[in-house]
Amino acid sequence: MRILLHRADGKTEPWIKDFARHLPEAEVVVWQPGVKAAPCDYAIVWSPPEAMLRELSEVKAIFLTGAGADAILKFEQEISHEIPIIRLGDAGMGIQMAEYVTHAVLRYFRRLDEYDTQARAGVWDQLPQHHKEDFAVGVLGMGVLGMRVIQALKEFGFPVRGWSRTEKHVDGMQCFYGPEGLDTFLRGSNAVVCMLPLTPETSNVLNRGNMLKLPQGAYIINVARGAHVNEPDLLNLIKSGHIAGATLDVFRNEPLPMQHPFWQEPRVTITPHIAALTLRRESVQQIAGKIRQLEKGEPVADVINRLHGY
Ligand code: NAP
Ligand code: GLV
Repeated sequence: MRILLHRADGKTEPWIKDFARHLPEAEVVVWQPGVKAAPCDYAIVWSPPEAMLRELSEVKAIFLTGAGADAILKFEQEISHEIPIIRLGDAGMGIQMAEYVTHAVLRYFRRLDEYDTQARAGVWDQLPQHHKEDFAVGVLGMGVLGMRVIQALKEFGFPVRGWSRTEKHVDGMQCFYGPEGLDTFLRGSNAVVCMLPLTPETSNVLNRGNMLKLPQGAYIINVARGAHVNEPDLLNLIKSGHIAGATLDVFRNEPLPMQHPFWQEPRVTITPHIAALTLRRESVQQIAGKIRQLEKGEPVADVINRLHGY
């Protein structure tokens, strides 16, 4: 069995070593521009270069080293629907998302962002506490990672609500779905966490009109993709006070350009796309297990639905 590997960072050796441990029968071939690799059974990529598309069209399945499929689906037309594209299902990302999002929500709920500002100004002042019943957290996207975050938020006692594409019933929370459920979801969410895949339907979901539906003083946490948020709209709503603060891990242009006004806005917290990192060992273990299932003719989880785009 031959596996074609592409890593944008060029750090292929640790991946090859991990595959040797989990799938010793496989030969891992590193993709190189301009070099035609011997025919491969599987490909492992994240955001493949366009020059790799021909090789991608010759494999039995394409594995992504991430949860989101938007980077490869920009080549949707060029990759046959016969070839399954299989993303990571959690693989150690769920707990990281839970840590990141609960940290951000607790920071706003306990007003630690404001205490930071006070401390810089040498101010010792106890602010009134927020109450949990007035601090509903709305999670856009109730998938593998969204549900892990919801579980963590519930453990802290936050009223949690979720929004998905299809109808769901989950104990202990309010569930909304579809475009018709979005308004009510937004109107009752004091903090919104975006955990959606990027698709034509979800792009720009956090635009001015939708953010204005949030209660005055709401918070935005985006750990999905930059294109979910209209960045100038968010900045304007922060300046007007409608949005009290935002924690953003993802941006339309990454790395966030130095001239971007977010850098100068203290109510925007910026992290460099680290909310849930790909954990190599967990990922290789999961991909190797799925390759074994495919080799036995068994179905595998986390195949991208090309119609829905995630
Ligand atoms: P997932 O399991 O595929 O879940 C996606 C969720 O979004 C599902 O609940 C789905 O609804 C919902 N959804 C999709 N389209 C929708 C629409 N048009 N309207 C309403 N809801 C919609 O994905 P995941 O594994 O949780 O990952 C979510 C995203 O996180 C990834 O796509 C990626 O972009 C992002 N991510 C970011 C980082 C980071 O470090 N910042 C790391 C990993 C992943 P249904 O349940 O009805 O299908
Ligand atoms: C990272 O953003 C991922 O989708 O895994």
